[in-house]
Amino acid sequence: MLRTVLVTGGSSGIGRAIAERFVAAGDDVIITGRSADIDKTARELGARGIQLDLESTASISRVPDAVGAPVDVLVNNAGGFAVQRPPVGAELEDVAEHWRRNLTVNVIGAALVVGAVEDRFRAGGAIVNIGSIGAEQAGNPYSAAKAALQAWSAGLAERLGPRDITVNTIAPGYVEETGLFGGPVSDARRAALIGKTHVGRAGRPDDIASLVSFLASGEARYLTGQTIHVNGGAHTTR
Ligand SMILES: NC(=O)c1ccc[n+]([C@@H]2O[C@H](COP(=O)([O-])OP(=O)(O)OC[C@H]3O[C@@H](n4cnc5c(N)ncnc54)[C@H](OP(=O)(O)O)[C@@H]3O)[C@@H](O)[C@H]2O)c1
Repeated sequence: MLRTVLVTGGSSGIGRAIAERFVAAGDDVIITGRSADIDKTARELGARGIQLDLESTASISRVPDAVGAPVDVLVNNAGGFAVQRPPVGAELEDVAEHWRRNLTVNVIGAALVVGAVEDRFRAGGAIVNIGSIGAEQAGNPYSAAKAALQAWSAGLAERLGPRDITVNTIAPGYVEETGLFGGPVSDARRAALIGKTHVGRAGRPDDIASLVSFLASGEARYLTGQTIHVNGGAHTTR
């Protein structure tokens, strides 16, 4: 069966690798990005493109019509550091803005996208949310938002289970070849991040995309409500 797969933030990095996998599997893939160039990027991949800004509810409300089909797979991948951290002693309003925007981009946006397409989901579908190792290890607004995403995802799994829709979160560690850090990471920071892993390397977008592909497959129908860590051992679970 031809599946319809919506990958938010498919314009670069992890989302792009995820979209490429679904395109290679022959699915009808829709990617999103904030720029009008998203159509061009999508065509290069063999996908369709939708302009989407998670900070705009009007933009999210246009998603169902733009998708125009029942949905089988949704990957809530779009996210990142929404705004630079204000300096210590910054105006309270700037601190509040830092919190609000990170929460909007990394958890509220995902919840609104699910709300927008939920009634179009076919039985046998899968939702995969992209969290972060930061939810376990850091205390900034981005990390708190990812922790909230992971908690919300577990509750969503319970709600959508009776419709035979699985919901899981993948929490990546440090992944290179992405735009997350807004430029090259310093050698010292890179070495420190890699030094935390057991396998001695940074993650690659495909390390995440391969698990998304599995979670959306018929092989993973009993796997739901989980946060799965993909980080080379930088954070371990019991
Ligand atoms: N790279 C890592 O080390 C790492 C680690 C843990 C978790 N993650 C998570 O992995 C996911 C993918 O990030 P990435 O590492 O692949 O970085 P990336 O290359 O910067 O990709 C981020 C994607 O999210 C989209 N996006 C960002 N803000 C958005 C907004 N306000 N509205 C709509 N789309 C927005 C971007 O689209 P446009 O810019 O085209 O609009 C882009 O496609 C994110 O959720 C990130 O938090 C990454």
